[in-house]
Order: sequence, then C-alpha cells, then structure tokens
Amino acid sequence: MAFEFKTIIEPFRIKTVEPIRQTTPAQREAAIRAAHYNVFQLRAEDVLIDLLTDSGTGAMSVYQWAGMMRGDESYAGARSFYTFQAVVQEITSFKHVIPTHQGRAAEHILTQATVTDTSIVPNNTHFDTTRANIEMRRGLALNLPIPEGHEPATLHPFKGNMDLAALARTLETQREHIPFVMITVTNNSEGGQPVSMANIRGASELCRKHGVPFLIDACRFAENAWFIKMREPGYADKTPMEIAQEMFRLADGCTMSAKKDGMANIGGFLALNDDALALRCRNALVVTEGFPTYGGLAGYDLEAIAVGLKEALDEDYLRYRIRTVEYLSERMTAAGIPTVRPAGGHALYLDAKSWLSHIPQSQYPGWALSNALFVVGGVRACEIGSVMFGLQPDGTEKFSDLELVRLAFPRRVYTQSHMDYVCEVLLYLNTVATKIRGIRIVEQPPVLRHFTAKFEPVGGVLIEA
Ligand code: F0G
Repeated sequence: MAFEFKTIIEPFRIKTVEPIRQTTPAQREAAIRAAHYNVFQLRAEDVLIDLLTDSGTGAMSVYQWAGMMRGDESYAGARSFYTFQAVVQEITSFKHVIPTHQGRAAEHILTQATVTDTSIVPNNTHFDTTRANIEMRRGLALNLPIPEGHEPATLHPFKGNMDLAALARTLETQREHIPFVMITVTNNSEGGQPVSMANIRGASELCRKHGVPFLIDACRFAENAWFIKMREPGYADKTPMEIAQEMFRLADGCTMSAKKDGMANIGGFLALNDDALALRCRNALVVTEGFPTYGGLAGYDLEAIAVGLKEALDEDYLRYRIRTVEYLSERMTAAGIPTVRPAGGHALYLDAKSWLSHIPQSQYPGWALSNALFVVGGVRACEIGSVMFGLQPDGTEKFSDLELVRLAFPRRVYTQSHMDYVCEVLLYLNTVATKIRGIRIVEQPPVLRHFTAKFEPVGGVLIEA
C-alpha cells in the first residue's frame, strides 16, 4: 500500500509547553501606547503570537538539550568546540571556524579587519546589521539585487538573486575599493527570497576573476538549499546537505547567525579560508568576544548549534517549514491582500505600501500596519521599510522602495491553528484597512532607529472608529 497523504504535519511532537497569555484589544492598546507605538518596546508577555523574528526564537529538540548536557566549559580547547567545528566544516568546508556570540559579532569582527572609509561592499541586499557594521567603519554598503527583487507581485523563483551585470560593472570600475563581496541567502531584506546556485556560482566566478574574496551571509542557508532543491533544475535529487555543501564551496568564507538555521537561541560564527585574515579576526575576537575556542559562547551553546545545524537540513522539517509560510501566503492571495510573492522561506511579507495605499510613505505605512496588527490580534510583526532603512548616515531621510511588514516564523514553535488564527486576524484587518492611520516619529537615535525610536499615530488614533 503506497498512498500518499496530502496533509503535511508538524514533524515533531510537543514535550514541553509554554502558556500564552490571552489579552484584550483594550489591554493591547494600552501596552502599545506605553511602548511609544514601537513593537520592539513591548513586553513579550503582552504578545499573543510573536512573529517579530525567527532569530533565536526556535524550539530546541531533545537532541539539542541532550547535547547541552555534554557541554565542555573548559576555557581553552573545549571538546564542544571541536564538535562544533567538525559540523561547521562538514557543511561549509572552510578552514578556519571562529565562534561568535551571534551573527552581527561575526560581521563586526570581519568588517573591523577589512573595511575602511574608502571601502565598498556589494551584497544582493545587506541585512541592517551588516549595513550598520560597514557604515560604522565609514564604508559603503552597496545593494545589488535583481530588479524583480523590488517588485512584490512579480513571480520569480529566485527573487533574492544578485544583479550579476551590476556586480561585474562594480568590480571592473571599483576593484581596489572592494575588500569582499557578500551574498545573503536567503535574501532577508528583499522578502526572505532564495538565491539560485547559478547566481551564487556567477557571483563567485566574477569575484575569483577579480581576485576579490566572496563571502556568504549564511543565516538561512538550509532554507535556501531547500528552495534550490524545489526550484532549480538539476537539484531535485540532491539532499539539502549536498546542496549546502556545494553553495559553500563556491565561497571563501561566511558569516552565520546560528539563531536562524543553527536552530539555537544564541550563537554564530565567522568561517574563512584565508589564513592571514583569520589570524587578524581571531586577534580581534580575543579582545571583544572571547578565546577562539568559545568566542562569546558557552560550551553548551556550541553543542546545541552543532546538533541544530544538522537538524535544519532535515527534509521533513524543511518541507513543513517552507509549506507553513506558503500556506499563509496562498490564503492572503486568495483574499486579495498584497504580499511579496512567491512566499519567502522564514516569513510572510505584507506589502503595506499597496495594501495601505492611502498612507503616504512619510507616515510609514508598514509601521502603522505593525501597530494595527498588534492591537487587533495581539500578533507582533516587524516593519521592513522606511523606518528600518530610511535614515541615511548624513541624517537625511530616503524612503525605501518597499514598505513591508514581516511576519517571521520561529522554528518549530507554532502549529497550524496558530497560523489559522493569524490568517483570521489579517482577513479582519483587510475589512478595516482604509481606516488605519499613518504614524510619525517623535524621537529617534542616529543608527538602527527602529529598535528604540518613539512614535505617535497621526491624528491620535491607530484605527479610525
Ligand atoms: N544577516 C541576516 C541576513 C540576518 O537576517 C541577521 C539577523 C543577521 C545577519 C544578524 O544576525 O541577529 O545573530 O546578529 N536577523 C534577525 C532578523 C535579527 O530578525 O531577521 P544576529
């Protein structure tokens, strides 16, 4: 008997539960006001379904918890480091593995060793911390996504790709200013969209031709591998592990946040082939992160990541994970709610600029939507638009091409009924969409303003009665 059932189940059963606190719209309205209309300033206890990020919010497996008990907390040369290093090298084959406390620490160590005030660092699209680390060194973070990456409704199997013609031009004219080229898989800032193997290979060949190091921002490497398996000709019969190995072999190093496809609550690493650069990075690591065999992590964290990196490549897990986002995306499309299509890997991205077209960009439609989503349904999501990216280093404001709201899914945390609830909240918001008001900034810091800026709704209310 070989009947194939259509229902994709969560490929795990639940062993420990964390109660969710129910709240009323009135309570949530008071909470968001107290948080100065900034969802990053809310207490997590006031949130019903937390889709702020997929970073560090996943549920660990029994094997990860068991691994933690094996953690070796020796200051130098801990067994846990070698376990961790072996798994990272099995997947990436990079010679030097440098643990860090999270992804941005790897970016910091890398950029302080390579970026100066005349540097230009191309990427398909820099994540905000990558961009901030480059700008802190007074370098230029250059985004070179393909044009389709900016068109929410245009269907393309690999919308996260880099514009290789633009990269070739940049390398030909600016070679001496480019310390390295990066490619972010999946492309978080353009909607969690995947990058094809052909595109990674193309970027790699251009970099090798010009003698420029090529690095991968690997946070969601396993999800990217799954999309390659599903969508790129020639990869259907390869395992996610084989695809990941092929991706990394095209590069000279990577930065990684283990809080994503490392399935851990904290951690990251920088991996490199270049001996001299690795030495400079390790020297900096000792000053700011820790000794090179623990780099800001406990031995038990290294064990959890070593197990997690492999679990992230499990086919049943990846099928369930990618399908969750696709399911929500299909229901949005059926209801006429504009999203970035096709669905991304770790998140659903609502196109707030089209959905709330009555709110001008100067009143941050994405930010307004994230507030409405919280008050109406207790769902916390994150604006990826002009509040996050609009403030320029010189203090001027440049509105983003896209005003997105990201509903990011913690790994192995929420079930089908949680998704159905989120869907119901969004369908309700669609019936009051034209009543959602814009928002203005009252106070802001000079960098990464979205985390701490204070806001207020234009006209005093978030949603008109
Ligand atoms: N690169 C990408 C593509 C990311 O998405 C992130 C984090 C980082 C680097 C930095 O890693 O948080 O460990 O320091 N993204 C999280 C998010 C915060 O919500 O998308 P980190």
